[in-house]
Amino acid sequence: MTFDFDRRIDRRNTRSYKWDQGEKLYGDKDVLPLWVADMDFLSPPAVREVIAKRAAIGIYGYSIREDSYLDSIVEWFRTRHGWTIKPEWITDVPSVVTSLSLCVEQFSEPGGDVVLQSPVYYPFYDVIRSNGRNVVKNPLVIRDGRLEMDYEQLETLFRAGAKLLLLCSPHNPGGRVWSREELLRLGELCLRYGVTVVSDEIHCDLALPGHKHIPFATLSPELADITVTCLAATKTFNLPGLHTSYTVISNPELRRKFEGRIKTLSLHMAQHFAQDAVQAAYREGGEWLDAMLTYVAGNVDFAIDYLAQHLPEVKPLRPEGTYLLWIDCRGLGLDVSGLKELMYRKAKVVFNEGSSFGSEGEGWLRINLACPRSIVEEALESFCRAANGL
Ligand SMILES: Cc1ncc(COP(=O)(O)O)c(C=O)c1O
Repeated sequence: MTFDFDRRIDRRNTRSYKWDQGEKLYGDKDVLPLWVADMDFLSPPAVREVIAKRAAIGIYGYSIREDSYLDSIVEWFRTRHGWTIKPEWITDVPSVVTSLSLCVEQFSEPGGDVVLQSPVYYPFYDVIRSNGRNVVKNPLVIRDGRLEMDYEQLETLFRAGAKLLLLCSPHNPGGRVWSREELLRLGELCLRYGVTVVSDEIHCDLALPGHKHIPFATLSPELADITVTCLAATKTFNLPGLHTSYTVISNPELRRKFEGRIKTLSLHMAQHFAQDAVQAAYREGGEWLDAMLTYVAGNVDFAIDYLAQHLPEVKPLRPEGTYLLWIDCRGLGLDVSGLKELMYRKAKVVFNEGSSFGSEGEGWLRINLACPRSIVEEALESFCRAANGL
């Protein structure tokens, strides 16, 4: 089957978080948005078909969660990631951020320290702070043009008493697909200091060609025992508006605590459309996913080449996974408001301003490349022209 990722689909006036907030957030309804991490591509055909079929029934009553839904998850991870998951380890949760928040609440003490590796997806900070815990940073360091973990600094945080780590794997915004060696070294420290790991692997299926995601819980039985893995089909197949995700927890004690909270908050009911979409995606979406990743890898090459030619002052990190490009714009000599002015007013484009991922992101921008190449080109052209005219 062929898929037309070049096709531009008008998403304005579709209640799109990304496309319909130009006026409200940036004072200009026509800004070109390449920020929020969803895709401007149609979901796989099998997903669209099954949703249309379900919608046609016309009654949207309470749903049971079918075994075949869990089986589709198990089968996907067995074949795509070599991970054998037992169906009873899976707990449905409305969203990954919900899981992160519940894990902070359940697996750390009030007022305690929770470690994240900055710069990182901004809700990591929110879920720690809103649960009354302290954000403790283990900043990533740039070595040889990529972000790496600082194990020495991490050990000082663990030695000082932090008992929970929020891991972003693959990493947003840095696009790292952590290697087995890196994860094992991290895991050894966690085991040594009795740290529980919440591994947000929502980007697990988005390792770009030539890279392989390693689920943290597959590293060893000991590491599986201290890990909550947060997953979803939503990032992979462009379904985030369906608001559905799940955790995989093999440790019965951790799972009991987590599921207890899900029940208390009545978050456990099945979402009517989501399980159809997830099953169709996992059973029939593999070919679409591979084609999409190849297309995005082409966008990555295009963007990196374009910036090298037209704005060599900025330095993108080549992503190994995700469809996000993290760009060091400090060479432009602008502060946060200067970068915003450049994007929203002069270039009329919206990328994510880097400091929202933590102070280490100041002077950086994140560009979402999951869109037709003509949009990437239009946005970069405007941005480079505006930056060169400063
Ligand atoms: C690392 C990471 N976790 C979680 C999410 C959001 O997941 P959800 O919509 O299921 O809360 C995103 C979305 O961009 C993400 O990048």
